[in-house]
Amino acid sequence: MDNFIFNNPTKIIFGKDTELLVGKETKKYTNKVLLHYGGGSIKKTGLYDRVINSLKEAGIEVFELSGVQPNPRLSLVHKGIDICRKNNIDFILAVGGGSVIDSAKAIAVGVPYEGNVWDFYAGISEPKEALPVATVLTIPAAGSESSNSSVITNEDGWYKRGLTHNLLYPVFSILNPELTYTLPNYQTACGAADIMAHIMERYFTNTQHVELTDRLCEATFKTIVRNIPLALKNPEDYNARAEIMWAGTVAHNNLLNTGRLGDWGSHDIEHEISAIYDIAHGAGLAIVFPAWMKYVYKRDIRRFAQYAQRMWNIDDNLFDLEDVALRGIAALENYFSSIGLPTRLSHVNIDDKHLEEMADKCTASDTQRVGAVMQLNKNDVLNILKLAL
Ligand code: NZQ
Ligand code: ZN
Repeated sequence: MDNFIFNNPTKIIFGKDTELLVGKETKKYTNKVLLHYGGGSIKKTGLYDRVINSLKEAGIEVFELSGVQPNPRLSLVHKGIDICRKNNIDFILAVGGGSVIDSAKAIAVGVPYEGNVWDFYAGISEPKEALPVATVLTIPAAGSESSNSSVITNEDGWYKRGLTHNLLYPVFSILNPELTYTLPNYQTACGAADIMAHIMERYFTNTQHVELTDRLCEATFKTIVRNIPLALKNPEDYNARAEIMWAGTVAHNNLLNTGRLGDWGSHDIEHEISAIYDIAHGAGLAIVFPAWMKYVYKRDIRRFAQYAQRMWNIDDNLFDLEDVALRGIAALENYFSSIGLPTRLSHVNIDDKHLEEMADKCTASDTQRVGAVMQLNKNDVLNILKLAL
């Protein structure tokens, strides 16, 4: 086990009707907020009205910026920064999913920064301060509600890049599983793939002696695998929705990677796909992760066999660990298919036209490696993308 510091400061407020507490909680920080949200699902579901009423009851002045798209764009972030500066807004409330929250985080680090906020995402500069961000989560998936990351797409060149910094942890996040009843099944499934990927990115590690976190990963993963079909069958199954929502947060709040180094190669590759083709991040991961596994499993057959046995209950076969490992990969692929996700690029009408470009961008023209279990160069990324066709 490696040395680590674990300090996740996000206060989680979980359960039925908890969005009604948003005014009271926000009031502890400010009298004025930027309410940031997406394409309108929160208006259809009535959540918008409940949040506005709660803020108004607490005497909070509300400015609004809607229109965050999945795979959130830099241009809207600039708009948000302008609104905050012009109106002296010092707090951002994100109501929505990972895209809305990531956009809010980008605005939060951009407001006090004199340069272009993209500098942080391009790795040219590091944030020194940020406005506080809070969230009301509507989709369990990205884990941004208690992560220290934000992922933004720059339309100039279609670069999708992440920023990780402890200033980005939200100060509080409200998680009411009932708010997820209205998710279309496809979004629920995409969220599942993202949550499972967040666990697997951590599970596949070269770090030895990580028994506790292995077991925590397995518990979280199996909770998703069991509850997703229940939520797809009955979208208003509170118990299933609650398990999924909490698992989504636990999967990405950095507890599961304490003392171990994760991989993250599949995420880096997926971001190139959703940057160019604008597909849901979770769908991209359902395509990339099995291909990545097929490409790298020989590096650590024992760990991949352990994954198969513990996550998917594949029979132990001490005489053929490779067979066990391969059956684990097949089980993951079958599961993704069974919940309605694509598992090949061709399933989302992507051909080989941009594979070379994606491999090039992912590795900064073959000057950087991605992943840790196997450090992938441009050719490796290209091979993985070809396996995913
Ligand atoms: O825009 P609206 O109308 O709200 O609709 C959204 C959107 O179309 C809809 N939706 C959300 N909640 C709903 C709902 N529809 C009905 N009922 C509800 N309760 O769902 C669609 C997808 O929303 P989005 O926010 O894009 O989903 P997600 O949470 O999966 O976020 C994806 C983004 O997060 C990034 C991804 O790369 C992607 O850009 N990630 C962020 C991470 C982080 N900050 O830590 C880590 C992740 O690995 C990931 O990269
Ligand atoms: Zn993800």
